[in-house]
Parts: sequence; structure tokens; C-alpha cells
Amino acid sequence: MKGVILAGGLGTRLHPLTKVTNKHLLPVYDKPMIYYPIQALVNAGIRDIMLVTGGNSAGDFLRLLGNGKEFGLSHLSYAYQEGEGGIAAALSLTEHFVNREPVCVILGDNIIERNIIAAARAYAKQESGAKVLLKEVKDPQRFGVAVLDGDRLVRIEEKPKEPKSPYITTGIYFYDYEVFDIIRTLKPSARGELEITDVNNAYLERGRLTWDLLDGWWTDAGTFESLRLANALVAETGANKV
Ligand code: G1P
Repeated sequence: MKGVILAGGLGTRLHPLTKVTNKHLLPVYDKPMIYYPIQALVNAGIRDIMLVTGGNSAGDFLRLLGNGKEFGLSHLSYAYQEGEGGIAAALSLTEHFVNREPVCVILGDNIIERNIIAAARAYAKQESGAKVLLKEVKDPQRFGVAVLDGDRLVRIEEKPKEPKSPYITTGIYFYDYEVFDIIRTLKPSARGELEITDVNNAYLERGRLTWDLLDGWWTDAGTFESLRLANALVAETGANKV
């Protein structure tokens, strides 16, 4: 299984912290933010990773991570995203790298307490389609919200004003090669981006989306409040426990 980390965007919700550097290079307790999603993939047994970034500080990722040897990676590839096209647009840049293999995609500001190896193994057995990892949170309106009917995932709504459940899609996704064909069919959302939620809903409509609950705490780190929380959680309990 290949791994993709999406670490582009302008990080405008964190201005002025992100005026001269990329959000994913900011510290979370004792490490740069980007270390956490890399370690999450490594702990799931993934050794061949592509990092998609953009903006002014793109070169700093190379200085920081090099060829990924420090993490035990066999390869670390890079792609450069121009502008703010959204998460699905960033993912589309990895098509050649993914090369029709199954892929685990993680957003560069997502930090987890435990690991996703069980989900990766379950997805490997799934053969085709996609899998999302859900988490119960207190502020679901900030995320992609799962509309559930019992255990059945009916639909995912991106940042709804009135969330229909407290369960959200974390930024950890498993896809088969069809993901790139799906992205080609997407239209930009109201915020002008190709939304990952539209990708997941396309799999859902085909009956090809499974979901698991993510173990342990999870947080993003893209707002002042969530960045503060991420720092506190990592300092108190540590992240990426195997
Ligand atoms: C993105 C996705 C959202 C998901 C979240 C997880 O939101 O659009 O569906 O729940 O990541 O971190 P963003 O934080 O990029 O606005």
C-alpha cells in the first residue's frame, strides 16, 4: 500500500503564524506537525510515501525530511500543488506515484493517539472501494459529518450548519485506483475547492465505502484552538502509540 500526505494550502486560519511558513512545519509540542502523519503511516507498515505541498516554504520540507531515512522510509517523493485547489485536487497530483495500487491518504494536520494498522489491514482485505475513519467530536460543524442510519453510513455532509451526528470523517482515507477517475468528475464546491467529501460520497453512492471508528484521541491542528489542543494532547499522552 502506498501512502500520501497532503500538506499544501495557505493555512489562512492560522495567520500570522503561517505568513512565512507552511502550517505543517509549525511545532506540535516537540516536533514539526508533519512528523505526526508520517509516523502514522509508518506505524501502519507503509514505507513508500508521497508528500504534496505548495506555497513559499515548499523547499523547507526537503531540508527537514530529506529522503525520509530518519523514519525508515524506502522512498519519500514530493509533489508541488500550485494555488488552493482543495484536498481532492492535491490528491490528483499523486496519480502517477500511486500507480493503481491501494493508497492510504492522510491530511498533514491530522494527529492521532494510537495507530491505524487494523484499518489498513481491513482495507487490504476489502480489495476495492474506499474506507473512511470516523470519530465522535464536540464540534462536528467544522468537519465532514457522517449521516448515519443505525450502522449504515447514508451520506457525508461537509461543514453543515446543523450536524446530523457527532461523528465526523477524519482526514484519513483508504482508496483504490478509481479515486482518480472520481476526482476528474468533480466540480468545485461553493468555496471553490474539489472536496474530499465529494469523493467519499461518490464511493458511497456506488456502495463501495466502508467505515471504521478510529481508536484513541484524534485532532486536526489547523485552527488556533485545535493547534493548542494538539500541543496539549501530545505533551500529556504522546501520539502514534504502536
Ligand atoms: C477537511 C475535510 C473534512 C474533514 C477534515 C478532517 O476539512 O474537508 O471533511 O473532516 O479535513 O481534518 P478542512 O480542515 O480541510 O477544512
